[in-house]
Amino acid sequence: MALKIVGHRGVAGLYPENTLVSVQAAIEMGLDWIEVDVQPTKDRQLVVCHDHTIDRCSNGFGRVDQYTLEELEQFDFGAWFSPQFNHQPILTLKQLLSLIAPLEIGLNIEVKIDTDRYAETVAELKSLLEHFQLAKQRILISSFDHPTLRAVHQAQLGYPIAVLSEKLCKKDWQLLEEVNAIACNLNVNKTNKQQVALLQEAGYQVWCFTVNNPNQIKHLTNLDAIFSDYPQRFI
Ligand code: G3P
Ligand code: MG
Repeated sequence: MALKIVGHRGVAGLYPENTLVSVQAAIEMGLDWIEVDVQPTKDRQLVVCHDHTIDRCSNGFGRVDQYTLEELEQFDFGAWFSPQFNHQPILTLKQLLSLIAPLEIGLNIEVKIDTDRYAETVAELKSLLEHFQLAKQRILISSFDHPTLRAVHQAQLGYPIAVLSEKLCKKDWQLLEEVNAIACNLNVNKTNKQQVALLQEAGYQVWCFTVNNPNQIKHLTNLDAIFSDYPQRFI
C-alpha cells in the first residue's frame, strides 16, 4: 500500500491550523486525508481546536469548554498566524463534515477531552456522524486519552478507531485490542522499525506524527501513513 499523506490540522505549516482555510488548502492540494483536533464547548458543540485553551491560536484567552459556541465565534483564529488570515472564525465539526461530505477526502478526528465529559461528547460525535453518513473508510477516530477511546468504542459509532500514543507501551497494546482498533498512531521520533513490524504483524496500521522532513522516516520504510504540516513535501 502506498504511504498515505495526512494533512496535519489541515496544512498547519502554511495556514492557521484547524481552520477552514487550512482544510481547504489540504483539499485543493489533492490530499487523501486530513487530521483535525476536536473538543467540546461549554454548550456541547464540537469545535476544531488543538489546545484546551484558545490562547495560542486566537485573539482570546481561556478554556474552550468555558465558552459557548456563540462566544467562541467572536474570536479570530487566523490573525495570530498572519494578518493575511484575519477573521478566520472557529471551525465546527459540523461545518467540516458538511464541507467534505460530497468530496472523497478522509478525515481523522482526534478527540481531545481532558474532563469527564466523555458520554456527552461522544454522543454529539455520534449524532454528527449519523447525520452526515460518510463512508466508513473515510473516517478514523483517534485519541491519546484511553477513557475517551473506551467511550467511543462503547458508543458503537461504526467508524474505525486508532490508538494515539507518544511512545508505544503495554497499555497501548491492551487498548488496541480492547477497542478493536485498526491503527496505532505514534510519534515518529519515538518509534522504531521493530515496533512498526510488530504492530503490522498483529494487524494494525501504523500512522506516524508529525513528519515535516523526509529524513525523519528514513528508518521507518513501512509506515501506512504520516501526518505532516507540510504535506506538499511528500507528494
Ligand atoms: O493525530 C496526530 C497528531 O495530531 C497527534 O498529536 O498534539 O498534534 O494532536 P497532536
Ligand atoms: Mg492532533
